[in-house]
Amino acid sequence: MATEERRKVSIVGGSGYVGGELLRLLLFHPHVEVKQVTSASQAGRYVHTVHPNLRGVTTLQFTHPDVLSETDILFLALPHGQAARSIERYAALARYLIDCSADFRLRDPAAYVRWYEMEHPAKDWLARFVYGLPERYRAALNGAHYASGVGCNATAAILGLAPLADAGLLREAVVDIKVGSSEAGAQPSASSHHPERSGVIRPFKPTGHRHQAEVIQALGNGFPLHFSVTSVDVVRGVLATCHCLLHRAVSEKEVWQLYRAAYQHEPFIRLVRSNIGIHRFPEPKLLAGSNFCDIGFEVDPDTGRVVVLAALDNLMKGAAGSAVQSMNVMLGWEETAGLTFPGLHPI
Ligand SMILES: NC(=O)c1ccc[n+]([C@@H]2O[C@H](COP(=O)([O-])OP(=O)(O)OC[C@H]3O[C@@H](n4cnc5c(N)ncnc54)[C@H](OP(=O)(O)O)[C@@H]3O)[C@@H](O)[C@H]2O)c1
Repeated sequence: MATEERRKVSIVGGSGYVGGELLRLLLFHPHVEVKQVTSASQAGRYVHTVHPNLRGVTTLQFTHPDVLSETDILFLALPHGQAARSIERYAALARYLIDCSADFRLRDPAAYVRWYEMEHPAKDWLARFVYGLPERYRAALNGAHYASGVGCNATAAILGLAPLADAGLLREAVVDIKVGSSEAGAQPSASSHHPERSGVIRPFKPTGHRHQAEVIQALGNGFPLHFSVTSVDVVRGVLATCHCLLHRAVSEKEVWQLYRAAYQHEPFIRLVRSNIGIHRFPEPKLLAGSNFCDIGFEVDPDTGRVVVLAALDNLMKGAAGSAVQSMNVMLGWEETAGLTFPGLHPI
């Protein structure tokens, strides 16, 4: 039997945290070969000088983004605004583009003015991109050539709320997000300086977080959504605690049935709800490096509130993992290819 030719893939923004995770995943992916990994600041250096976990795994060196060449699939892992500004150039270099930034997540150009305070520089391209969350947009991703990334906080909220929203049960949702420091990327800043960041439980965006727009786009605006984000003292991880007020009372059994029906065939969603042991609910720590989103819930018998908990690794299911999963769907490969790492315990 002839061996399948691997598709060539390159990463722009390869020295960042998302770029590093993309590289880790793609180096072990059965259907691709990594061709170029760009970084202006690290050009010429071995990738393991920035991503030490890859020492001995690859001899790739960073190339300057200016000398990026043609490839089959191109991943963009750039700071906000950069992909949109150069989208024509990137699209000329690759048939398949997967952009991990927020630049192509929202369909409505006016949403960029409201949430990102900018006129989108490539409005015509917005409709060409599919939101890169296979659990929600699998059919549209199948065969697509352009996928956006996902917001990590948005992903936890969307996957946590979707079954209740889709069933028309959600009257109002208050989503309280706790997120680790790697969400802010590899560039140091005053707020990421160790004495300032260490030990924090820092309210980051009590209201007005940009990811709210993605949740509304994915689930519709049939219910008021309240969204707050707090930075906590972990490197990786998102925990969304979703306080759900419903149109009518539901039993735990009914919630189980709803979530099981929605997610039983999803390879990367696990329902976590146990009466015994210490891991009774989703916990981001256990998901570090894995592409799982764990979802659990509890019904408050006194008030009828349903508390849905969704946990993930922001760099994986919240970024690089969903991007690779989207690539698998776009190219018709098995959806789990390159993504089977189960995580570590203890960690
Ligand atoms: N971190 C997360 O948890 C997370 C989750 C979901 C989505 N995202 C999104 O993913 C994107 C990357 O995030 P990150 O955390 O990996 O950021 P990061 O660590 O700051 O990395 C950004 C990368 O982009 C490169 N870069 C900067 N300007 C560039 C330009 N004009 N052209 C080409 N390359 C450029 C940087 O390297 P050089 O300057 O050396 O070229 C670096 O490799 C962001 O848009 C972010 O919103 C991040």
